[in-house]
Amino acid sequence: MTATPAPPIPAGIEARGLRKRYGPTLAVDALSFAVRPGQVTGFVGPNGSGKSTTLRMIMGLVRPDGGSALIGGRRYQELRTPLTHVGAMLDAAVVHPARRARDHLLWLAHAGGVPARRVDEVLDLVGLAGPAARRPAGGFSLGMRQRLGIAAALLGDPPVLMFDEPVNGLDPDGVRWIRGLLRSLAAEGRAVLVASHLMSELEDTADHLLVIGHGRLLADAPVRELRAAASRDRVRLRTPSRSEAMTLLAGAGATVADTGEETVVVTGLPPERVAALLASHELPVREIAPHHASLEEAYMELTRDCLDYRAREER
Ligand SMILES: Nc1ncnc2c1ncn2[C@@H]1O[C@H](COP(=O)(O)OP(=O)(O)OP(=O)(O)O)[C@@H](O)[C@H]1O
Ligand SMILES: [Mg+2]
Repeated sequence: MTATPAPPIPAGIEARGLRKRYGPTLAVDALSFAVRPGQVTGFVGPNGSGKSTTLRMIMGLVRPDGGSALIGGRRYQELRTPLTHVGAMLDAAVVHPARRARDHLLWLAHAGGVPARRVDEVLDLVGLAGPAARRPAGGFSLGMRQRLGIAAALLGDPPVLMFDEPVNGLDPDGVRWIRGLLRSLAAEGRAVLVASHLMSELEDTADHLLVIGHGRLLADAPVRELRAAASRDRVRLRTPSRSEAMTLLAGAGATVADTGEETVVVTGLPPERVAALLASHELPVREIAPHHASLEEAYMELTRDCLDYRAREER
């Protein structure tokens, strides 16, 4: 008799209909997504869009009003040895100023059932090995505290990792380092979720993107798909009659942005239609070419209606 194999335990993170309200603010609204192993998944959205609240719900730090979040098929509260299932850096490490970095990690390792030798491995991984690890954490810079937070997340060698704005406070070398670290953690087969309010931080790092605005999912797609979608029906136009062309094309339903003295980027009309419209109004054209949108442009467009905090633009 052959035994029926047990159904596989879903790896990574799965959020199903997560919801959280703070007074009048619906911080997270019916959010469902999956974070798959072997990939860096970027979690991007403007300030206040609900990223940190979502990560806190996954880690059992905030109780959802509805829905659930599963790590490897189980809720955080059901994990017997959480450090070995999920690691998270939600803030730069908060450590008593007199405590040494290494002692802080030894204490965490002891509480989490992780062998003490792992402490020196993670200190080495984050570049805090040596004298820094023996200094009181009170003298640490923000970047050093970020590294200590990352070391704590890696302590249990977990298959699922979450980082909230991990680049904050890091110098350019640190930024490059963290990008490499995120990529290598995913290459080892781990599920890596990284929240950021800046698309540019994730542009070269993420394989997959979850875009959020006002607590709702705006996009859930591989980076290359978002990039391709952003470039569709975008045309760069060079004309000495820029303002007339802009009025004409906007009247035909296009979104038009001026990008230089004689250039505009036209979104939402195919190039042939742009050319035909300009010709029929006898407007001179120096150049019409496809415009390859950056991921940043795609993101700005997706989240344009979800910006709560926007500085007044100087004219
Ligand atoms: N503890 C809380 N009490 C009341 N409101 C909260 C609380 N935590 C978050 N909020 C509100 O919920 C919304 C989502 O906040 P959250 O911190 O999740 O956003 P975020 O996407 O992480 O933003 P940022 O990019 O600024 O980090 C905001 O309107 C915020 O003011
Ligand atoms: Mg946040």
